[in-house]
Amino acid sequence: METAEIARRFLAFFENNGHTVVPSASLVAEDPTLLLVNAGMVPFKPYFLGQRTPPYQRATSAQKCVRTIDIDEVGKTSRHASFFQMLGNFSFGDYFKEQAVPLAWRLLTDSTADGGFGFDPERLWVTVFHDDDEAETLWRERVGVPAARIQRRGMADNFWSMGVPGPCGPCSEIYYDRGPEYGADGGPVADENRYLEVWNLVFMQFERGAGGGKDDFPILGDLPKKNIDTGMGLERMAAILQGVDNIYETDTLGRVLHRAAELTGTRYGDDERSDVSLRVVADHMRTATMLVSDGVRPGNEKRGYVLRRILRRSVRNLRLLSGDDRALLHDLTATAIDAMADQYPSLRADADSIHGVIDAEEKNFADTLRSGTALFARAAEKTRAAGGTTFSGTDAFQLHDTYGFPIDLTLEMAGEQGLTVDEDAFRALMQQQKDTAKRDAKAKKLGNADIGVYARLLDGSGATEFLGYTDHEAESRVLGLIVDGADAAVARAGDRVEVVLDRTPFYAESGGQLADRGTLTADGRGTVDVDDVQKPIAGLFVHRGTVRSGEIAVDDRVHALIDTDRRASISRSHSATHLIHSALRNALGPSAGQAGSENRPGGLRFDFTANSGLTPAALGEVEEEVNTVLAGDIQVRDFQTTLDEALSMGALAMFGEKYGDRVRVVEMSDYSRELCGGTHVGATGQLGIVKLLGESSVGSGVRRVEAAVGLDAFRRLSKESLLVGRLSEQLKAPREELPERIDAMVARLRGAEKEIERLRAAQVLQAAAGLAEGAREHGGVRVVAHQAPDGTAGDDLRRLALDVRDRLGGDRPAVVAVAAVPKDRPVVVIAVNAPARDTGLKAGDLVGVAARALGGGGGGKPDVAQGGGTDPAAVPAALRSVEERVARGA
Ligand code: SER
Repeated sequence: METAEIARRFLAFFENNGHTVVPSASLVAEDPTLLLVNAGMVPFKPYFLGQRTPPYQRATSAQKCVRTIDIDEVGKTSRHASFFQMLGNFSFGDYFKEQAVPLAWRLLTDSTADGGFGFDPERLWVTVFHDDDEAETLWRERVGVPAARIQRRGMADNFWSMGVPGPCGPCSEIYYDRGPEYGADGGPVADENRYLEVWNLVFMQFERGAGGGKDDFPILGDLPKKNIDTGMGLERMAAILQGVDNIYETDTLGRVLHRAAELTGTRYGDDERSDVSLRVVADHMRTATMLVSDGVRPGNEKRGYVLRRILRRSVRNLRLLSGDDRALLHDLTATAIDAMADQYPSLRADADSIHGVIDAEEKNFADTLRSGTALFARAAEKTRAAGGTTFSGTDAFQLHDTYGFPIDLTLEMAGEQGLTVDEDAFRALMQQQKDTAKRDAKAKKLGNADIGVYARLLDGSGATEFLGYTDHEAESRVLGLIVDGADAAVARAGDRVEVVLDRTPFYAESGGQLADRGTLTADGRGTVDVDDVQKPIAGLFVHRGTVRSGEIAVDDRVHALIDTDRRASISRSHSATHLIHSALRNALGPSAGQAGSENRPGGLRFDFTANSGLTPAALGEVEEEVNTVLAGDIQVRDFQTTLDEALSMGALAMFGEKYGDRVRVVEMSDYSRELCGGTHVGATGQLGIVKLLGESSVGSGVRRVEAAVGLDAFRRLSKESLLVGRLSEQLKAPREELPERIDAMVARLRGAEKEIERLRAAQVLQAAAGLAEGAREHGGVRVVAHQAPDGTAGDDLRRLALDVRDRLGGDRPAVVAVAAVPKDRPVVVIAVNAPARDTGLKAGDLVGVAARALGGGGGGKPDVAQGGGTDPAAVPAALRSVEERVARGA
């Protein structure tokens, strides 16, 4: 049975049993305690905790999940995978164990013709929590599982929580017996390889507090209601139903794995080491594809780092497999898209953008490997020069941090050179960095308040009504205040406060548009200066600010007034962003998808996916097109419609963004149509001018344009015009002749520099005859040791050394050593003629002698060699040491 069919069957079964089918949420978790969705129940957590009222009492889903905790195990075993899908049925205070147990049994054991999975009941075992008599009775009496195939287990195995404070409860698991060829008899407690867990039924009824491990945390109390949360791993089910040994051989992952083998000329099953690499690549490429399609971009922290890391591990393992450095990710991404598109059709539509991101990161990493390898070589050299065999943790960390070198790569490269790595120091530095990142992330994300405070306010008072599309001021009521992260009844002068209103004209930061600022005034009581507005949870507007005077209290009536100049300026920027988006797509094609933006007063930045930069000419065309549309003074219109309708009108949606069923479309005749919740001008003429300020890469296949809008654009242009005026005066040339004039000046300057160089070289060589004449004899070898004037270039030194050697002739042994300080570091060149070489004197050796005296290194061929050091004052001593060395004989 194909993976897609297993999911379809599961959902249909529960739909027929009164459950609402809920589409998979994005992998990017809304829950601030999680980076990525890691269980089917995550999107439903507020319902279990009673923080939100569920719109349905029974639900079923096939949820995309990513778990990165044991990412290092992926591939080493055939059980771990970083991406998986969890099928589940959920009851929010509706049914409990008495229905969950028989429903699960029916779906597993009903014949495939009847819509079930057709498991042989004799091969199923169950476990229950050690004191859960009720569950055991249900399995025995309602379902008919013999007591011999029911086992009891403790907290560590049969109690489920998210690993963090939140909902939890005892669970009951169903296992499938793969048969004696897979291990010992005795049920799941004896062998979890032979007895595979297929389904976990969690009886979610408690709330847990903080604590470590699977069983070391306090139970804080009962949840408001008893709930059901079940989870069946779709990949594992597919392995069983497809009769293959493990998840890597199923119809989805298996395709990526076999393609990786084909591309690298290896075969799965041939060799344990390459099998591990193939599994890593298959798993990681699928995970990366799914993450990118949910809007994650490679980066150096949080989700971006997860993505970067798995892409880099893929590249690395592919190189190990193939033994070369071909770029293979594009092909494997295409395979992953094909393998998953049956279940996630949008993958095909987004394929260009997904490829753009992954291709760029692969290229980026290839560059990284090149420069990181040079840094590695220097650090290894330093280690050896100091007589050590341990590569320092600091260097390993720098390689990791700056160049993205996975530690296993550093370990391997160090191993090849007979070095070990101080892994403890490396890990300590990693931990330090992680702790800092965690603290920062927490401080940033949660603002002051725990998400629960907001959830309670939203549930108590409902969503904030947004009036700001039409109104700039409103009479509102204070529904809640948060001071120092907790509910407060009143906030006083000087307090930082978060204010929740029933209705508001303030735009909350979203869709790249910055928040409004303004004031909330409670008549006769006090005023709050609002400096930021956020929606920490959908629907709830939180006005952040400082109480300027008096006080403000819950239930107060306030006059809410936004800064209208700021708003107007931001709206101009936002409309400009839509126009630039359309113009870029016209110039580059539809793959130039929006990847982020910021609309601020006076200007904007717009990020889009593209693999190469825009030429200045193309940028000029985009700018001209936008300004032509401004001059056309097109009306800007907005309307509500369904998502499907909007998409069929060609409205642009942001890649990786989540939308509800009803959406708002902002339209500028046929030129631009986008899904957008932001504020805009009435007609494009209001923008005045849009001036593009340049275009750059922000890494990973994403480019950025910045622009000034309206008066800001005008001021910039006017300033530049003044500047050009001044240059024209200074150079005494008409404006349009400035480029040629400057080119000519630069050319003259270059010519003059060359001439100076030539004269200096001639001066150096003039000394050659005198030097040759002054050669000293040391045991039959003529030696010239000379310090040239400071500033003599390395090339000139070389020329001088060769010239003096020529003058000394080839019939008797001669050695020439010349040194100088070209900039701030000394350089030495040694030339040795053939008869001297015959006596065993080598330029490479002698340069080593000199360079050591200079505090550096060097080497080269026997006839001529160059070296250098760090200590300019040591030049005379270095030359002396060469002479002494020659005097001692070869
Ligand atoms: N939450 C449980 C799990 O993830 C069951 O869905 O295993």
